[in-house]
Amino acid sequence: MRRLGSVALTLIVAASCAKPDSAGGRTVVGFSQIGAESAWRTAETGSIRSEAEKRGIDLKFSDAQQKQENQIKALRAFVAQRVDAILLAPVVETGFEPVLREVARAGIPVVLVDRGVQVSDDSLYATLIASDFVEEGRMAARFVAEKLEGRGAVAELQGTTGAAPAIDRKKGFEEVLAGHPGLSIVRSQSGDFTRAKGKEVMEAFLKAAKGEGSKIDAVYAHNDDMALGAIQAIREAGLEPGKDVLVVSIDGVRAAFEAMTRGELNATVECNPLLGPLAFDALEKLLRGETVPKRIAVEDRIFEQASAAAEIGSRRY
Ligand code: AHR
Repeated sequence: MRRLGSVALTLIVAASCAKPDSAGGRTVVGFSQIGAESAWRTAETGSIRSEAEKRGIDLKFSDAQQKQENQIKALRAFVAQRVDAILLAPVVETGFEPVLREVARAGIPVVLVDRGVQVSDDSLYATLIASDFVEEGRMAARFVAEKLEGRGAVAELQGTTGAAPAIDRKKGFEEVLAGHPGLSIVRSQSGDFTRAKGKEVMEAFLKAAKGEGSKIDAVYAHNDDMALGAIQAIREAGLEPGKDVLVVSIDGVRAAFEAMTRGELNATVECNPLLGPLAFDALEKLLRGETVPKRIAVEDRIFEQASAAAEIGSRRY
C-alpha cells in the first residue's frame, strides 16, 4: 500500500510539473498569425504548418482576424500554456511591447516572422525573419519610372495602416520617386491588403479622377491581392489594365503571374512567404541555446510580364 501511495504521489508531482500542452515530450510552439487577408498570407500559414508537421513540432495556431487585440490575447494564452517558443507575425508595428515583456518574463523566446515591431528594447524578440520591404518599394518605383519614362500620375493602394510592409513599401517607393520630379503620387489610400478593398478604393480613385478630368497613369499596390481588385475596377471602368493604366504590385503569388500572362498586370515584386524552414531552423537553434542573427533577410526580385509565362510553372505559391 505504501509503495502504491508513493508511485501515485510521484505521478501527481510529475503531472503537475509537466507542461499542460506538451504533447508527449514534443516541442510546443505557439503561432500568432494575422489572418487570411491575402493569398500570400495563406501561403505563409501553409509553409509554417507543414514545416512544423515535418519536424514533429506541436503547433498551436491562432488566427487574429486582422486584430492586434486578438494577437495580444493569443500571446497571453501561449504564456499560460507554457509553450516552448512563439512565432509572431505582427499585424502592426507598435503596441506589442507590454505583452512581449510578459512573454520575456516567462522565459519564452519569440521569433518574428515577416513583419517587424517597434520596441524600445530589441531583446524582447530573438530574431526577425522577413523581406526588405523598403527595397521592394524601391524596385516597384524603379519599374514605374522606367515604363512611364519619368512622367505620370500614380495612384497608390497602401496595405494595412500601421503595418511594417505598408510603412516601408511606401517609404521605398517615395524615395525613388523623389529622383523623378515628373512622377507623383496623386492618390493614396489603404486597401487593407485585400482584393475587395483594393477594388473598392480603386473604383473611388477612378471616379474622382473622372470627375476632375484627370488621368491615372499607374497603380502601385502594396500587394497582389489589392492589384487584382484594382484590375477589376479598371476593367469595369472601361479601361484596359496593363495598357491604359500600368499596374505594379508586390508578393508574386500565382494569381499575379496569371494576370501578367493575360497582360493585365505589368510587374510584381516577389516577397517570399515560404518562411517555415527558416523560422523553425531559428527556433530549434534558440531552444538548443545557440544564438541566431537578429535579422534574417529574405531575398526578393521583380518579375515582369515578359517572363511570366516561362516562370509560372515553377511558382510554389
Ligand atoms: O507582410 C507581408 C504582406 O502581408 C504581404 O505583402 C501581404 O500580401 C500580406 O497580407
